[in-house]
Amino acid sequence: MIARIIPKKNCLEILDQRLLPHRIVYLRALTPDDAAKAIKDMATRGAPLIGCAAAYGYALALNQKAPSGWRELSLRLKKAAAVLKASRPTAVALAYAVDRLHGEAEKFISENCKKCFDKTAYLRLKKLISDEAGAVFGEDVLANKRLSLSGAKLFKRPVNVMTICNAGALATAGIGTALGVIQKAWEKGKIIHVYACETRPYLQGARLTMFELLRNKIPATLITDNMAAHIMKTAGIGAVVAGADRIAANGDTANKIGTYMLAVLARYHKIPFYIAAPVPTIDMKTPDGGKIPIEERSQDEVHKIFGSRISPKGAKARHPAFDVTPAELITAIITENGIISPVTRANVEKITA
Ligand code: MRU
Repeated sequence: MIARIIPKKNCLEILDQRLLPHRIVYLRALTPDDAAKAIKDMATRGAPLIGCAAAYGYALALNQKAPSGWRELSLRLKKAAAVLKASRPTAVALAYAVDRLHGEAEKFISENCKKCFDKTAYLRLKKLISDEAGAVFGEDVLANKRLSLSGAKLFKRPVNVMTICNAGALATAGIGTALGVIQKAWEKGKIIHVYACETRPYLQGARLTMFELLRNKIPATLITDNMAAHIMKTAGIGAVVAGADRIAANGDTANKIGTYMLAVLARYHKIPFYIAAPVPTIDMKTPDGGKIPIEERSQDEVHKIFGSRISPKGAKARHPAFDVTPAELITAIITENGIISPVTRANVEKITA
C-alpha cells in the first residue's frame, strides 16, 4: 500500500486522501498547525492514522527554531497539543497520541531541565518525542495485524460481507482494522464478496475502500448507502464489519455516519455485526455513547459534491460525521487483545485491563 504519512527530517509528508483514487499527492506539514489543518480538512483521516499524524505533527514543534528557554518551549508544546487535539473531536486515538507525547515531554522537561537552556537536553527531548511518535505508529501496525488475524477466525464458512467508510490501510498505520479482518478472512477463503457502502458525503467507501479492495484483488461491489437494506435482503450478506472512532466503556461505538443504520439493518436481517478496532479506541473515561462528542462538519460538504452544488441555494443541510451504535446491536468487538462478546461493560473492562 502507498505510504499514508512519511516523517522526514524537518517535515511530515501527508498523502492527500481527498484526491484519491485519481491522484497521489503529498502535502508537506512543517509545523503542528500544518498537521492539524491536514487532519481537520480531511487530507488525512481514519482514527488510528490521525492519531499517528498528530503524534508526528506534535514532534514538529521541536523541529522549529530552538527556543530561548524551557518556559518558551513548554508554552510552544502546550499550544501544539491543544491545536492538534482540537482538529477533530470524535476519534479518541488522536487525543490518546497527543496526550501520550505531551505527557512524555512535560515529564522530561520537569525532570531534566534546569533554569538555563541546555541544547543537549533539548536534542535528547527531540529524539525522545520523535521515537515516541514512531512507537505510536509501530504499535498500530502490530495491533492491526493481531486483530485482523483474530477477527478472521470468526468466519467459519465463506460469506459475503458489507462494510462502510474506509477502515483499511488508508485509515491506519498498518493493514487496517475492518478491512484488515476482511483481508485476512479472504486469504483463508472465508470471503466470497465485499459490498462497500459509498459513504456519503466524503465517499470514503467509493474512493478509498474500493481502491484498496481492487489493489488487493478482493472481489468487491460498490453500493450507495441507501442500497444497504436491499442488498442485505437479496445478496445473502453473512456479516457486516466496520471500524470505530471511539468505543465507550459500555461498548457503545462511534464510527462513520451510517454505521448505526447498518447495525439496525443487520439485526433485522439476523446478520452478525462486527466492530474491529485497536484497544486505544476504547475510552474508559467515556461511560456510554451519549457522552461521545460527535463532530458536526460544514453543511457545505452535503450541499456540494467535488465543489459542485447539488441542492438549491438557500436549502439547509446537516453533516454529523459520526453516529453511535448501541452496544446491544454489536455482535462482537474485535481487538488485538481479544474478542469482546457479548459487548458488555464488564467484558470491555477485561480487554483494557
Ligand atoms: O471521517 P473519517 O474518514 O476519518 O472516518 C473514518 C471512520 O469512520 C473509520 O471507520 C474509523 O476511523 C476507523 S479507521 C480504522
